[in-house]
Amino acid sequence: MSAVLETNEVLKVFGGLTAVDHVTLSVQEGEIFGIIGPNGAGKTTFLNSIAGTYVPDGGQVRFLGEDTTGFSSDAMCRRGMARTFQISKPFPKMTALENVMVAATFGNKTIIKNPTALAIEKLAFVEFPMPVHTPAESLNTVQLKRLDLARALASNPRLLLLDELAAGLTTGELGDLMDIIRKIRDSGVTIIMIEHIMRVIMGLCDRLAVIYYGAKIAEGPTIEVAQDPKVAEAYLGKKYDL
Ligand SMILES: Nc1ncnc2c1ncn2[C@@H]1O[C@H](COP(=O)(O)OP(=O)(O)OP(=O)(O)O)[C@@H](O)[C@H]1O
Ligand SMILES: [Mg+2]
Repeated sequence: MSAVLETNEVLKVFGGLTAVDHVTLSVQEGEIFGIIGPNGAGKTTFLNSIAGTYVPDGGQVRFLGEDTTGFSSDAMCRRGMARTFQISKPFPKMTALENVMVAATFGNKTIIKNPTALAIEKLAFVEFPMPVHTPAESLNTVQLKRLDLARALASNPRLLLLDELAAGLTTGELGDLMDIIRKIRDSGVTIIMIEHIMRVIMGLCDRLAVIYYGAKIAEGPTIEVAQDPKVAEAYLGKKYDL
């Protein structure tokens, strides 16, 4: 196995708040790597700091063996890092198909000859349940999640970052979404997912990192981390004495 992503002491500070506190971790090719931690712990800020939304205030990011610290989000996307957002952000007036076509056209390293065909293929891959010409603004939560996945996949990523993709879904919908995430991994895409829902974490993640007050307090195989007393304490809201 080789590392797809390695971070070394990544730091992000907002004014007086250290939102990401020297986080070092590495994600191996083919794994589903979970990032968990209480609300406000710094999980999304960490993703933003590796995916080009923010320039880290310290530390390094290596993606596919290249030092990509401080690269822009479109540079990261073209290098093969795609993501979904905690709050879905489609172009509301465009159709589902057009939304995915935008990603296919602008997210790839090489020029895509037939973005329509690529977009249709990705919508089919995520089992998009609506006609592809449905405007994005009329999609419900679960349909939007699938659209988000199709848009991310349209840039043909090597690494996919998912920020609470499962939030707001019913129990039945969760199972279907988990099947699709497994299918994405089986197609050769490494996945980092921020998640709160235990069923999804336990059912999908090979390994976990726990972020607490910006710092990584645990990392390892999912079952081991889930049984770690430090982790239970973080979730109970008690300040853990590092
Ligand atoms: N752009 C910003 N400017 C200032 N502070 C920010 C900014 N973005 C995030 N923060 C703060 O940084 C901390 C970490 O926020 P972040 O959104 O990364 O947490 P999170 O772990 O993703 O939480 P949640 O589970 O609620 O999504 C919080 O205290 C938040 O208020
Ligand atoms: Mg978040």
